[in-house]
This record gives sequence, C-alpha cells and structure tokens, in this order.
Amino acid sequence: MFENLKEQPVDKIMAIMAKYKADPRPGKIDLGVGVYKNAEGVTPVMRAIKAAEKQLWEEQETKAYVGLLGDPAYGDAMRELVLADAVPAENVSVAATPGGTGACRQAFELIRMANPDARVFVSDPTWPNHMSILNYVGIPTIKYRYFDAETGGVMFDAMMEDLAEAKAGDVILLHGCCHNPTGANLTLQQFEAVAELIVEKGCVAMIDIAYQGFGDGLDADAAGTRLIASKVPECLIAASCSKNFGIYRERTGVLMAVAQDKDMAVLTEDNLKSLNRLNYSFPPDHGARLVTMILNDEKLKADWMAELEEIRTGMLGLREQLARELQERSGSDRFAFLAEHRGMFSLLGTTPDKVEQMREHNAIYMIPDSRMNIAGLNKETVPQLAKAIIDAGI
Ligand code: LMR
Repeated sequence: MFENLKEQPVDKIMAIMAKYKADPRPGKIDLGVGVYKNAEGVTPVMRAIKAAEKQLWEEQETKAYVGLLGDPAYGDAMRELVLADAVPAENVSVAATPGGTGACRQAFELIRMANPDARVFVSDPTWPNHMSILNYVGIPTIKYRYFDAETGGVMFDAMMEDLAEAKAGDVILLHGCCHNPTGANLTLQQFEAVAELIVEKGCVAMIDIAYQGFGDGLDADAAGTRLIASKVPECLIAASCSKNFGIYRERTGVLMAVAQDKDMAVLTEDNLKSLNRLNYSFPPDHGARLVTMILNDEKLKADWMAELEEIRTGMLGLREQLARELQERSGSDRFAFLAEHRGMFSLLGTTPDKVEQMREHNAIYMIPDSRMNIAGLNKETVPQLAKAIIDAGI
C-alpha cells in the first residue's frame, strides 16, 4: 500500500527551518519561521506561564479528559480576550483546538460541511498553510490582490475589486492583525468597508488572528476582528495563543463561530464538538489551562501583558532601526514601509534569487518570498541585514 504514496510538496517555512539548522556557519541569522526571539536569540518561556505552570503542578489532581470543546472557562477567557463585548456571548460557540493551525483546519472542515459550494477568498499572498489545508480539504480558493510590492502597503482598491466577485455563501478570509507574510494591515475604515461588502454579498467572514498583542497592542490588534464580528451575520475566528503566550509547542488555540442567534450558536457548537471528536477527540489542555489561569488572575494577567508589551515594543524598535539603517545606506525612503508594518513579519518585496543570494553570501535566512521575521534580529544584526539588502541590490 505504501508504494502508492506520493512525495508531498515541501512547506517553504519548514524547508527554511531545516536549511538554517543544517548551516554550520557561525553568526547565521534566522529570519525564517515565525517564532519570537529575544536579543539573545532565545525564545523564552514567559514569566506568567512559568508561574502558572508552577501553580498547576502543585494544584492539579487529575489529567482525566476535560470535554470535547475543552474547558468552557478557556473558551470564555478567549472569547473575552479576542471579542470583548463586540457580540452577545450567547451567539458565540468556542472549540479549543491544537493551535491556530488546528483552528483553521476545523474552520475549513466546518465550512465544507455547512456549504460544499463555498469558495474561500484568500489574500495574495497569505500564510502558505492556509492554501495547503484548503487544497487538502478540497475547498476551491480565489486569491484577492492584497500586497503592493511597490509601496509595501495594501492595495485596497484592487482588493475590494476582487472581493466584489464573491457570491452569497463564499467565505472571505482575513488576517485579524499582523498580516502573515506581509506585515501590511487594513485600517479600521478598511475593515469596515470589507464588513459592508460581506453583508451586501451575503458572504461569511473568517478571521485568522495569530498575533494579537504583537502589533499595536492587545485591544488595538483585535479591533478589526471585533468590528467585523459585530457587523456581519456569521463569522469564524481562528485564534492562536502560540505567539502571544509563547507556548508554541503546547498547541493552544480556539475556533470561535459567531452565529446570528443563540439557537444557531447551539447548532454550530454541536458541529464543532463533533469535528473535534472526529479529528482528535479531546483537544490539548495544558496550554489552554495556563492561558485560562493567566487571563483569570489579575496579577498573572498584568505580568503577562507587561511582558507582551516588552516584546511588542522591542520588535517596533527593531523595525525603526532597520528602516533608519536602510534609509542611510540607500539614501532613499523606499524602505520606510518596514517601520509602518506591524507584527512579526515584513515582506521585503524582492525576488527569491536575491533572498538566496543573501542566504549564500551573508548566512541570512528568510522565506523565498522575502518574508522576514523581525523578531529574529537584534541591535547588532540589524546593520548586517541592512548592508546585505543593499549589497544584494534590492
Ligand atoms: C509562521 O508563519 O512562520 C508560523 O505561523 C509558523 C508556522 O506554523 O508556519
């Protein structure tokens, strides 16, 4: 049987991770996979997570199953964190999932169950795994124009033109904040215009929010998601705790479905429960429990927020330093967009050849589409990157 299997396409983010690992050169710079690193190049366990883990170790008496949707307290805490009071709580059903990827997968399966004719509109570009999972699940995708490589910003008029092709029942997938891979984000007014289009066309909104707190702050980063959820009749939200709680390997996320009323929410919840049961039964609990403990404890929450803010402002400082260095070295403002972008990533907007050149000559690793993880830099490596970018003729 196994001989019938075919080699699978390589995920470009995973491929860069492997190449970086295998490179023996000292001083190599990893701007590949989206993992936060501090100035020492370490991905730390956050203070509040450590404290919650200690408390959990002391207090937890059982590891018995919790529930197919996870602990309801986790669902409530995440709904509150992402949506605040944007929609009535009774209209929202929440399923704990293995990370944000698990949430996306469950969302796509739910879409397929609910409407086999649905197409999903995705930004060009989007996180490559969106495309991979959608293809695997068998949902047709349509790309909408998004990133303007000339300006480093969003080509909003073109995006709206493309979204105008959507039909009733199609799904519009948006990034809640810190767009991956580009770093270019919609303004609130633009979110509003998209919400109006979704309502007018009878589409369903889906929002992937994996970097809340990494852009402009916890509430500011959720503002677009809250606005969409409050305006459209139906909305799916895949949220991740991997980055903002730094618990990547614990696989902690949620899928939230905002329905039009309570009855529809009950039906949706029943389907989310069934999907969890079919795919992995009970979702992982450890990370979710830590998140719940932190969000429900004033002291732990304050400390978590303070550390998240250090991470966020650290990345902003690196962005500004990089834009400044490039301005000085190039004598132009053409890289100013790097300071405008938000989140972990920026798309430099160059060719795979130039990216490869920087990998070969400078041991700098980015994704071939020129996505850079800003958190992979520090004050010392920013000038090295700026020099490499100019030397590569970008
Ligand atoms: C990324 O985009 O690098 C992260 O979301 C990690 C991943 O799973 O791809």
